[in-house]
Amino acid sequence: MLEQLESHYQQAQQELETISDSEALHRWEIRYLGRKGLITEMLRSTGRLPQEERASFGKRANEIKNQLTEAYRQREALIQQQALARDLEEGQIDSTLPGRARTVGGLHPSTQTLRLYAHIWAEMGFQVYRSRDVETDDYNFQLLNFPPHHPAREMQDTFYTDRPDVILRTHTSPGQIHAMQELGENGTKPIRVILPGMCYRHEQITARSEIQFHQVEGLAVGRNIRMTDLKGTIAEFAKRMYSPEARVRFRASYFPFTEPSMEVDVECFLCDGAGCRVCKYTGWLEIAGAGMVHPNVLRNGGYDPTVWSGFAFGMGSERATMLKHGINDIRYFWGNDLRFLEQF
Ligand code: FA5
Repeated sequence: MLEQLESHYQQAQQELETISDSEALHRWEIRYLGRKGLITEMLRSTGRLPQEERASFGKRANEIKNQLTEAYRQREALIQQQALARDLEEGQIDSTLPGRARTVGGLHPSTQTLRLYAHIWAEMGFQVYRSRDVETDDYNFQLLNFPPHHPAREMQDTFYTDRPDVILRTHTSPGQIHAMQELGENGTKPIRVILPGMCYRHEQITARSEIQFHQVEGLAVGRNIRMTDLKGTIAEFAKRMYSPEARVRFRASYFPFTEPSMEVDVECFLCDGAGCRVCKYTGWLEIAGAGMVHPNVLRNGGYDPTVWSGFAFGMGSERATMLKHGINDIRYFWGNDLRFLEQF
């Protein structure tokens, strides 16, 4: 029996030396030290030995059991250490490698200009009021004092839909009527808003004209609002938007919804008025249509035009962006070419 015990012991030691993973180690533990393990069985059979051999055999068997248990623990620790070292090596981070740059999106140049407009007008006390892209003929034309079949409608070629009377707005001016009706509280409250948004015109696409573009409409309604207020407000805006020295000029024009109507030019900020290719050697750049709100339009918005007055203006956003960045073709704006967009 003692020989058998020693031989199990030797075998167990040899096997343990070769074990390098925890599963094999577990199997080894069951084989030698488990409840039915070889060493455990030997210990259990001590009672079957002649009386005089029992003590020394039992002592030796216990020694072997303890030594194997200790060897098992050591091997277990070694295997864990090796596994940890392997994990560390595999998941190693080289902190000297250069980082990977994240691609960061940017704001579209039109959005940037719209935000700048909104920022400047907010500083001057104008709140943003949003109105819809899809309009009725009433709001886009009729309530703005365009009579049916009036030739002025041809100034703005219209996209119609297959719903009678439903069109895509050709300008942001219909928002004037919505703002007056919704904010004016039946013509009792003053208003100072800007209305930014996309407009749609069924036009020939050229380097200067798109079928969709942004405008920012402005509207102020109050008592005693005069043309000088309009001129002063626009002149101040031009200083903040273009240059502190920017000069503006007003040219008589015609819009059915304003009377008098005018077009606003700013002195060319690229050549300081000397004349260049961008301003077509005139020294001036057109920046807005504007005028005093027509009495019929005030009435359609719920105001009594004998008591209330107002001014309105409308400026294009893409054309202003083109001037600012020297962009020579409006078609880049909706071309979705990243080489263009990434420059801003
Ligand atoms: C109007 O649309 C008037 N509603 C502006 C207005 C508002 C006048 C309030 C009086 C009071 P107009 O058609 O000129 O006006 O357009 C105004 C601006 O929109 C132009 O100066 C231009 O910057 C821009 N715009 C017009 N058509 C196009 C187009 N096809 N592509 C790009 N921008 C355009």
